[in-house]
Amino acid sequence: MELLSVRITISYKDKPPVLDDLRVDLQPGEILGLVGHSGCGKSSLALAILGLLNLKGGKALGSIRWNERELLTLKEKEWRKLRGKEIAFVPQSPMSSLNPALRLGTQLEEAWKLHGQGGRDQMEETVFRSLLDVSLPAKEEFLRRYPAEISVGQAQRVLIAMAILHRPALLIADEPTSALDAVTQSEILALFGELNRRLGMSLLFISHDLVSAYTLCHRIALIHSGKIVECNTPQAIFFSPQHPFTRKLIAAIPTVPSASEVEESLRFNLFNS
Ligand SMILES: Nc1ncnc2c1ncn2[C@@H]1O[C@H](COP(=O)(O)OP(=O)(O)O)[C@@H](O)[C@H]1O
Ligand SMILES: [Mg+2]
Repeated sequence: MELLSVRITISYKDKPPVLDDLRVDLQPGEILGLVGHSGCGKSSLALAILGLLNLKGGKALGSIRWNERELLTLKEKEWRKLRGKEIAFVPQSPMSSLNPALRLGTQLEEAWKLHGQGGRDQMEETVFRSLLDVSLPAKEEFLRRYPAEISVGQAQRVLIAMAILHRPALLIADEPTSALDAVTQSEILALFGELNRRLGMSLLFISHDLVSAYTLCHRIALIHSGKIVECNTPQAIFFSPQHPFTRKLIAAIPTVPSASEVEESLRFNLFNS
């Protein structure tokens, strides 16, 4: 039984469809990678699943089935009950997604209030649990800090802590590591993997980077020309790619040069300087 099943066509005003009868399913507990070039409609799909598409004269047709419910026709009031509780979102840019003027504690408190039940004790318990979930210090001192007083990697962890406060069944992460350096990037990928294993949370991992998707995902879906052109296990995608677009993406992955190649190029540079 699918947790999420999407069949969707999205067109913005006076433009050809960005997504053209795109079909994708997600199983409970699965990490699905959604990979495609910039501008191919990845964020549009994420926003549609979160009920946040800003269409202004455009159209979204089809269906978004979530746990036996149709989401595409949901009213905003119903979306507010669901968003952040059943399906949550981790944005791309950690620093610009936090409010620089508010302490981290205040921002986590606000996220808790959207769906939290009970008083201050329940709130603190939930916030501390979430901080521990993402390996941040569950301490008052940390919560009193402002976003400028933490690293960008910590900021991304705070946003993940916020997203999982209410233990959603699905986390949608739109390019969550694109703004991070390589080391922080691999730490955040490892964290997503751990949250998936430990909490059974499904993840829709959106990225333009096939290598990140390879390390994290159970399946990878490639978007091209508004459709999923290939969807398979990372191994199958890498070692027997079927679609020309997939082959092109794989061919474009840079490889680490061997020691002899480095030596060769150094010698070449010496001769030519
Ligand atoms: N609100 C909008 N109004 C009009 N066009 C949009 C809007 N949002 C995105 N687009 C266009 O839709 C296409 C897909 O955008 P997007 O979903 O952000 O792609 P991706 O996340 O893969 O980079 C782009 O050509 C973009 O310019
Ligand atoms: Mg995007």
